[in-house]
Amino acid sequence: MKLSSSLLGLVLAALSVRAAISEIELKANTAKGLRLISLEDGVDPVWKTEDEKLELMRAHRNFFDVTEVYEPNTAFASPKSFAPLATYPSPSHQSAVNAIIQTISLSNMQSYLGNLTAFNNRYYKSTTGAAATDWIVKTAGDIAARYPASGATVSAFKHSWVQGSIIARIPGTTSGPVTIIGAHMDSINLSNPTNGRAPGADDDGSGSVNLMEAFRALLASGFKPRTPVEFQWYSGEEAGLLGSQAIAKSYKAAGTQVKAMMQLDMTAYVKPGTKEVIGLMPDYIDAGLNTFLGSVIDTYSLLDWTTSPKCGYACSDHASWYNQGYPSCLPFESRYGDDNPLIHSASDTTSVNGFSWTHTLEYTKIAVAFAYELGI
Ligand SMILES: *[C@@H]1O[C@H](CO)[C@@H](O)[C@H](O)[C@H]1NC(C)=O
Ligand SMILES: *[C@@H]1O[C@H](CO)[C@@H](O)[C@H](O)[C@H]1NC(C)=O
Ligand SMILES: [Zn+2]
Repeated sequence: MKLSSSLLGLVLAALSVRAAISEIELKANTAKGLRLISLEDGVDPVWKTEDEKLELMRAHRNFFDVTEVYEPNTAFASPKSFAPLATYPSPSHQSAVNAIIQTISLSNMQSYLGNLTAFNNRYYKSTTGAAATDWIVKTAGDIAARYPASGATVSAFKHSWVQGSIIARIPGTTSGPVTIIGAHMDSINLSNPTNGRAPGADDDGSGSVNLMEAFRALLASGFKPRTPVEFQWYSGEEAGLLGSQAIAKSYKAAGTQVKAMMQLDMTAYVKPGTKEVIGLMPDYIDAGLNTFLGSVIDTYSLLDWTTSPKCGYACSDHASWYNQGYPSCLPFESRYGDDNPLIHSASDTTSVNGFSWTHTLEYTKIAVAFAYELGI
């Protein structure tokens, strides 16, 4: 998750209006090491050096780094509307889903998060960031191997940088459309991205372990969905939603239909003094899917949900799916603004005042229920 500062955004957007970018310019500037950055909806992206890009991150300015996904001579803009591929059901498998929810293990989540936060950082260009991908591939792969009848597979989705994304797939008895639950596995220390300490416990170790434990619990239950379910851990979210953009673009190019995409990015913090609540992001999401998500929370979680203030342009990986015209949603740890202030630093640990294991446990329940109700 990234923070936003809208005034700076307006200034930058005003400076960045220009014509679409040709293939020649794209190749030449990319070869020079420049990055193509989309800062604002409906405005052409602009070239930045790596240092300028890092300055934007430090200024809490959200963006897509579109260097590797930009189509020459096109406007890079979010779709304003698209036909939903599915109408969403009301939750109707309470006994089956509640039985799986009972088997969710908080101690598994704690051990997964212990391993993820033990990497010095999970930066997308660092060796420890790459090792974190290997750990997720191995851990999810071991889970899949325990339940061979599921047919589940786990693979790395390779990128041009060292840290791969990861896709764990539970095949359907029919071919599609696929239900996707995502989180980003990278972390960042903004003062020293490559070498600095960045445990990323909340951002987004929490969502990453929600996915791992939901994947495990579903497979252990013998879950055989009618349509495929995928758990995806994205590389390079903090550097401009890199992994999710690459995957969403590849799905679009392959003609893959997506029933729903739910992003879990920061699920473990409850601001002291506030009411514990799930914040549903209202922007860059599909309204029908969001209504379904609210009913999943009503049915399966102890917590109430509320509509959060907007998190703005390019705030997390759901936006990469939205940009490709796929329905997405994002249940957040709080109302936007009441979220963890210590992310992107050495202090994003489980000992933060406000870090709550029982809070993040609710998002594993939501992941299980979302996968089951849409997949079955
Ligand atoms: C990592 O995971 C293993 C296996 O689940 C567990 O035994 C170990 O305690 C974990 N490490 C940390 C640092 O939590
Ligand atoms: C980044 O890492 C260094 C070294 O681990 C640490 O001293 C520093 O506090 C970190 N920066 C932030 C913003 O946490
Ligand atoms: Zn995040």
